[in-house]
Amino acid sequence: MRRLTVPSIAQRKKNGETENPIVMLTAYTARQAQLLDQHCDMLLVGDSLGQVIYGLSSTIPVTLEMMANHGAAVVRGSYHAVVVVDMPFGSYEGSPEKAFESASWLMKQSGAAAVKLEGGVAMAETVRFLSARGIPVMGHVGLTPQAVNALGGYGARGRSEAEARKIIEDASALEDAGAFAIVLEGVVEPIAIEVTREIGCPIIGIGASPCCDGQVLVTEDMLGMFDRVPRFVKRYGDMGAMITEAAQTYAEEVRERSFPGADQLYQPKPD
Ligand code: KIV
Ligand code: NA
Repeated sequence: MRRLTVPSIAQRKKNGETENPIVMLTAYTARQAQLLDQHCDMLLVGDSLGQVIYGLSSTIPVTLEMMANHGAAVVRGSYHAVVVVDMPFGSYEGSPEKAFESASWLMKQSGAAAVKLEGGVAMAETVRFLSARGIPVMGHVGLTPQAVNALGGYGARGRSEAEARKIIEDASALEDAGAFAIVLEGVVEPIAIEVTREIGCPIIGIGASPCCDGQVLVTEDMLGMFDRVPRFVKRYGDMGAMITEAAQTYAEEVRERSFPGADQLYQPKPD
């Protein structure tokens, strides 16, 4: 099977394929990518790996090198889904030229087909610059975690009239600049419905609305790896409990010398 392409994703909304929502999950490792690949249209190597993989308290310290390494692993582990890599904080905001340098390096190192960056009106010029130079860009508006210090937290956006207007303006600016799709995170539902209706490129919701053109979640969140998750996460599994239970049983068997058992042992060849 050939890998899906960025234009085929972008085209779905233009074709009015509302019965065919875009399925996206995060992936950071090759094995995880292998397991998710055939179920997803896109895999996102999110900078959420800062918290999920590296135990950081925000995405701010995440580096281009981290994104490139995990991006390459996810590309190696998948053959079907479009792989999108997040541009980390500080690697693109300075200027369109700086963003091009970072994004092109990320694509060469990882083999990913597209990058994602946060911000709306302020990033439109950069999105236009990259899109015109062969780099497909996914936007990200609403709750933008790299702006946590400016926003003052991870609360939902769009509750006030001014915030709601800003989100629509941001999404519209990205569409005009050539973004092939936009992640819309943590916004009140009526705004998500309005953005999805008004904007011509696919809107991928997370904490947004089932009316969006697609959905994305952090895989470890939906697998139940963390005790504390945002309201918008639904748990589709309980991997945290599975891992704890397996480790506990292993530890017991090692301590009582019942592991390794006969099935796991090598015996000398009989003479
Ligand atoms: O980093 C990430 O995982 C993301 C998604 C939550 C959209 O940006
Ligand atoms: Na991200």
